[in-house]
Amino acid sequence: MNKRQARYFAIGSTLLATLIFLGLTVDSHRQFPKLTNAQNITPAVTLGKNVWHKNNCINCHTLFGEGAYYAPDLTKIAQQRGAPYLRAFLKDPSKFYDEQRHRRLMPQQNLSDADIDGLIAFLDWVSKVDNQGWPPRPIMVTGLGATAGNAPVPAAAATSTAAVSDKDPVILGERVFRTAAPACTACHSLTAGADMAGPSLAGIATRTQQTLASPGYKGSATDLETFIRESITRPSAHLVAGAMYSANGVSFMPNTYEKDLTPEQVGHLAAYLATFK
Ligand code: HEC
Ligand code: HEC
Repeated sequence: MNKRQARYFAIGSTLLATLIFLGLTVDSHRQFPKLTNAQNITPAVTLGKNVWHKNNCINCHTLFGEGAYYAPDLTKIAQQRGAPYLRAFLKDPSKFYDEQRHRRLMPQQNLSDADIDGLIAFLDWVSKVDNQGWPPRPIMVTGLGATAGNAPVPAAAATSTAAVSDKDPVILGERVFRTAAPACTACHSLTAGADMAGPSLAGIATRTQQTLASPGYKGSATDLETFIRESITRPSAHLVAGAMYSANGVSFMPNTYEKDLTPEQVGHLAAYLATFK
């Protein structure tokens, strides 16, 4: 290749790369309305986005991996926590603090009810944007996620290889615990003392005996497995004490599992959780 050919080659390949780059950019923009569900951008979503900017939520939180890594990522928070939890949290974050557990606190934002409704609509819209798997891993800033996500299969189920089969309800339950939508692991750890948005389910079997025996229990369960099933399908039937878990008699646990899980799946979950003595 002489000097002139080298020059043409350099110019030609630069042009080609530029064309590919422009083509892909145009292609991305063409897909934006579909990926972002543009038709679902209601006035409430727009209002919520403005509140989000005005209060500089991004100075502490991330959306789609963008923002500050000081506080939890909120990309999927609407699905993970549900509207009742978000409404109560945004009204007064301090109610959700546990001095032992939290060293990072969210300051009171003094939001009006309309601002909060807008933020919830905005975060709900964000959670449904098809971001093609980005960010690739959940962004964890609390450190609790590691224990929550890696819930062990209890020893009882793993002792003999004969017990470990695809038909073992305990094994199947462990799978549902991780894969239900929203995942139980988003709110429950199985490590004693590691309470997240929901109480740790370590020791649930022992705790339930006390709950069922106490005069305060108003649900209709009579034993451990029916209690767990009731907790999943009718979360407000019995409330675990604590302002961070419920408001006005309504549990912050989603009440959608009765509809979204089959009775078999709920039974598998009960079998799995009953092994946590
Ligand atoms: C000064 C930093 C800061 C600002 C600004 C801030 N937050 Fe937070 N936020 C936090 C911290 C820290 C936590 C975690 C507290 C905890 O662990 O309980 C949090 C938690 C949350 C949660 C609960 C997350 C969960 O996993 O339960 C939501 C929802 C939330 N913030 C929304 C917002 C919104 C909306 C705004 C803007 C209006 C905002 N935050 C502004 C620091 C901040
Ligand atoms: C958005 C957060 C959230 C998700 C997701 C969630 N829970 Fe809960 N869960 C809670 C909260 C908050 C409580 C405590 C309030 C109450 O009693 O309902 C709770 C309570 C429970 C209890 C009763 C605990 C006790 O000590 O009495 C069980 C059992 C339970 N959840 C199981 C599950 C299972 C199984 C799943 C998945 C199918 C799940 N949860 C998903 C938030 C959640």
